[in-house]
Amino acid sequence: MTNAATHSTVAPSTSKPRITAGERAGIPPRRMDFEFAEETTRYWYGNNAFLTTFWATLSALFPEGETFFVDSVKNYRHMITDPTLKDQVSGFIGQEAMHSKEHETFNAMAEKHGFPTDKLDKELGVLFKVVRKFVPKKMQLAVTVALEHYTAILAEQLLREDIHQDMFSDPEALKLWMWHALEENEHKIVAYDVYEVAGGGYFTRVATMLIATLVFAVVVTQGHMRLLWADGSLFKWKENWKGLKFLWGWKGLFPRLAKQYFDFYRPGFHPNDHDTVQLLDDWREKMLTEGGMLADQIKNPSRPATV
Ligand SMILES: [Fe+2]
Ligand SMILES: [Fe+2]
Repeated sequence: MTNAATHSTVAPSTSKPRITAGERAGIPPRRMDFEFAEETTRYWYGNNAFLTTFWATLSALFPEGETFFVDSVKNYRHMITDPTLKDQVSGFIGQEAMHSKEHETFNAMAEKHGFPTDKLDKELGVLFKVVRKFVPKKMQLAVTVALEHYTAILAEQLLREDIHQDMFSDPEALKLWMWHALEENEHKIVAYDVYEVAGGGYFTRVATMLIATLVFAVVVTQGHMRLLWADGSLFKWKENWKGLKFLWGWKGLFPRLAKQYFDFYRPGFHPNDHDTVQLLDDWREKMLTEGGMLADQIKNPSRPATV
């Protein structure tokens, strides 16, 4: 057979762009490729060791944490019949996978500064291995629902309050955290809705939140202390006091989250009760349009289907 004959059998290509399930659901996984320069400021948040190591601790926990979130949702994928929720789950999985990848890059930068983020992530991996083995799957999903609530409300604060943008002194770090914050809010309902499909009830949801809060507090506090120790800053009282007040003082970061956190304990609560529609529209505009914060990251400019 001649080449010409072969070519004649090729079907003409359609010009319709391929839309992924995540894009259809408004939860598009966006491919990012952040690069942190050698000379990235050591204390990139508020020029403060305490606060920088706090965020670095959270970042250290993301790769293992988000892998666990994805797995706990995947456990119930077979029960989902609603096509919209199916698409949302695909978007959720894609977004979280990309977050893990990018926070690994961020954590490698922190490692170069001598912060043992890798150790924290590995230890969390061991903890989740135990959870996967001994905790019922429905409760594993409830853990994800609880921790996704944390990430959603913290991310909302990052997007809503200008103070955070002023505190980030490294532009690449700012992009990473704001992009992650945007997507956490785009997919904030997914684990919750899958939990409902799985027949998860109120009691397990709130009991798991209580336990997850305690465990999360211990994991983050000990990790944070270890990063501070590695930095030689554990006993720098003045600076640490300043950081502690920023997080826990009157109108500090956590007290400002209290109302939203406790909303979770209300029967009938749903993550969409916290209205972030306009906020996300504003940030997509700010980040994804031409000349926006993430313009250099959008790999395929023909597909900013997200704006
Ligand atoms: Fe995430
Ligand atoms: Fe998430």
